[in-house]
Amino acid sequence: MHSPGPLFRPFDKLIKIKLGDKEFEVPEGNMLLRCMQYLSPEDISYGRFCWNEECQYCRISFDLGPDTPQRTALSCKLMVQEGMRVTEMADEIRYCLRKLQLIVKPK
Ligand code: FES
Repeated sequence: MHSPGPLFRPFDKLIKIKLGDKEFEVPEGNMLLRCMQYLSPEDISYGRFCWNEECQYCRISFDLGPDTPQRTALSCKLMVQEGMRVTEMADEIRYCLRKLQLIVKPK
């Protein structure tokens, strides 16, 4: 079991997800916004996120693979899942993940 720091819930493995056009490996058992922080630690930490379902700055659209329904969610409260594909992101997230150079639609 790995625990890279107190921010993350302990996890046994990394799972694959897609953010826009790119695939990443992130810690299972963590909320999606936390996984984004894993990929871009400083910029997500400095983002204007409440982490508590209030600001709405973390809103995204996602599906779970081909032929699955598209859903909208708050990434601070969405448990990451293997094969998750994030197709749209609110501006604050897009800005905070800019170093990953994603091609992803605004939400
Ligand atoms: S971070 Fe504020 S609603 Fe998710």
